[in-house]
Amino acid sequence: MEKNKLLELVSEMSLEEKAMQMTQLVPDMLYHLAPANLTGPLRQWHFTHGQLRCAGSVLGKSGAAYLKKLQDDYLKDARLPIPLLFMADVIHGYETILPIPLAQSCTFDPELVEENAAAVAREAAAAGLHVTFSPMADLVRDPRWGRVMEACGEDPWLNGQMAAATVRGYQGNDPGKKGKIAACVKHFAAYGQPEGGRDYNTVDMSRGVLRDFYLPAYREAVRAGAAMVMTSFNTVERVPATCNRWLLDGILRKEWGFQGVVISDYTAAEELMNHSVAADVPEAGEKCIHAGLDIEMMSGIYAASLAELLEQGRISEQEIDMCVMRILELKNRLGLFENPWKDADEELEKRLCGCKEHLELARKLARESMVLLKNDNVLPLSTDTPIGLAGPFSNTGGIFGEWSYLGNREKTRTLQEALTEEYGTRLVTAMTDTFCRENSDSALETPPEPEEFPEKSKPADAEALSDRKILPCGESHSVEETRLRKPDVPDFVEEALNRFRHCGLCIVAAGEPEWETGEAASKTDLRLSPNQEKLIRALHNAGKKVVLLLFSGRPLDIAPILDAADAVLQVWFPGSAGADAVTDILTGKYNPSGRLSMSFPRNTGQIPVYYNCYNTGRPVLDPENRFTSHYLDCPNSPLFPFGYGLSYTTFSCRNLKVSEDHSTASVLVENTGNRSGETVVQLYLRDVSASVVRPLKELKGFRRIALEAGDAVEVSFRITADMLSFYNEAEQWDWEPGEFDIMIGLDSEHVECQRVWFQP
Ligand code: BGC
Repeated sequence: MEKNKLLELVSEMSLEEKAMQMTQLVPDMLYHLAPANLTGPLRQWHFTHGQLRCAGSVLGKSGAAYLKKLQDDYLKDARLPIPLLFMADVIHGYETILPIPLAQSCTFDPELVEENAAAVAREAAAAGLHVTFSPMADLVRDPRWGRVMEACGEDPWLNGQMAAATVRGYQGNDPGKKGKIAACVKHFAAYGQPEGGRDYNTVDMSRGVLRDFYLPAYREAVRAGAAMVMTSFNTVERVPATCNRWLLDGILRKEWGFQGVVISDYTAAEELMNHSVAADVPEAGEKCIHAGLDIEMMSGIYAASLAELLEQGRISEQEIDMCVMRILELKNRLGLFENPWKDADEELEKRLCGCKEHLELARKLARESMVLLKNDNVLPLSTDTPIGLAGPFSNTGGIFGEWSYLGNREKTRTLQEALTEEYGTRLVTAMTDTFCRENSDSALETPPEPEEFPEKSKPADAEALSDRKILPCGESHSVEETRLRKPDVPDFVEEALNRFRHCGLCIVAAGEPEWETGEAASKTDLRLSPNQEKLIRALHNAGKKVVLLLFSGRPLDIAPILDAADAVLQVWFPGSAGADAVTDILTGKYNPSGRLSMSFPRNTGQIPVYYNCYNTGRPVLDPENRFTSHYLDCPNSPLFPFGYGLSYTTFSCRNLKVSEDHSTASVLVENTGNRSGETVVQLYLRDVSASVVRPLKELKGFRRIALEAGDAVEVSFRITADMLSFYNEAEQWDWEPGEFDIMIGLDSEHVECQRVWFQP
């Protein structure tokens, strides 16, 4: 549709229609619920039936047949021919579930991530969706925060590469094309750094840190063309992101030139009152409008306040029209005015969702994402004696992690099934299902169901919290107490040891429950549950070789159990093809190549621990000196650093050479082992002295390469001014002449380094 036509449409809309165009609801509200039946946070807004009928977008439902009917019914009733937008949280897969985003980032393989995102878009588009609330570009350093599973780790460059690849995969060069959907990058900004890792908690950091570390990945997603941006729940410089004019209008729109739609997070607009920056609903609405928030999700403040605000002259009609116009432009970009169903197609949906081709892509992604953390000559499996398999993730399809949209756990192949295909009766199992159920230690255990609104519950205040039976702080048990109170399992361990009496080696599929990851899943204790630790220790003490498979949405605290495992494979939550991907690695059909995108802590007290930190005024140069920046009881270094990961072969990386004009740096990488494999060559830079402090190392490039045994290749990187730049005190992106360290290696701790002088 021509822009003029869109403008005409806007001019024909009533104020109520505009306010509702700027309001996102759940479909049930439009459809089935009379206002009297509304529950939860929306009840207070008293939507009229007429208002509900002209909401501009809905979230959380999909399915070609359902959405086609919803669109038809909606348009039949609509006064103006403006179709509905359908959005949902398709975070790591629609029906074919991919490994969680944190795992995806460990592939260091943006092309494969893009290819998989394109498959996700094909499924979601056929199921009638128009927009996905993904990618999440929040930089993370604190694994206590449950949402690190949705993030791409601690490095801004890697984060940016992954966010951009995901956007390209979903949208291609035009989200309106068949099989494409629009991307909504979130949560703008800095949601990944809540104090203490507690979800929704205060975020506070200097502007330089915000710009250097936290903003770049959102910017890359915007550069890749993301059609939408979602604001975060947190404050940025003491102003909630959802009404932060400096952030939304200043940085996002003016500085980065973003022209798409900005949406709030779920009820975030209403939460301005809890944040104490709005005294009432109209003030919240006024602040959001001034900041340029186009759509507010699920709190109804625009519907409730725009008329009054306009009448009082607190906002202008032009501000409203700009928001509405951006929403209509997105609908137009998606081709909805001509084809309101877009790609919704029951037959295609059936054919594509969970198809073999998508599953195969997901398997490739899953195996590239798994990180071999330790291997004392036990992997790949080469034993011809019986193999034991135990642990809560042995025989379950529940290996998706949170936000696994339509993934069907019942239909998903389990590790036990995949390994049985390989090893037949040589596979001996114990403490799989039983272990889960009897000890409330289960991966299968379901989380408490939300009671409020159909889609999800969003408690807005303390009263809502107490409804959900969350213990007041004073009554909760300390972590150690909770650990000790867990039931003992000697009988189970005895039984397992007995069943495994002929096994020289046991695989333990351990980890954290799926529902302990994702939103509202912060934890202060990142150890495996006591029962799992006991099992691992008992097998080790009985002289078995132990292969520990770690299913988790975050780096766990595995130091207490590391010595008892002969091999550790971090498999994350690997998705629909996860069991096959794990089996590919255990059997050696695939040589592990994943690299950590987030450091593993030595204990929770050490968090946050991340590689790209500052030097401080008192770095540890002399271990005898007490007055340096360190802990008395723990080294500063992580258990496993960023960029780390083993392979079944070995690689060397040497002969760092920097060209005379300093525009390229290269190394010789050799496969020094006896099987082919892939590794990730990593380029780091350090600005040795600058006008503001600079990190000890910053990733500026990486290359995934495959080498046959004995082969070597020279890998070179171009070094650009952009790589040397940072935000200086004047908030300018620039570089300063002087000394820089150029480092290349195969993880962030082991690098070759050359110091050079850069001048203009
Ligand atoms: C989450 C978002 C999500 C939204 C819609 C919020 O609670 O923070 O990431 O996209 O809900 O479901």
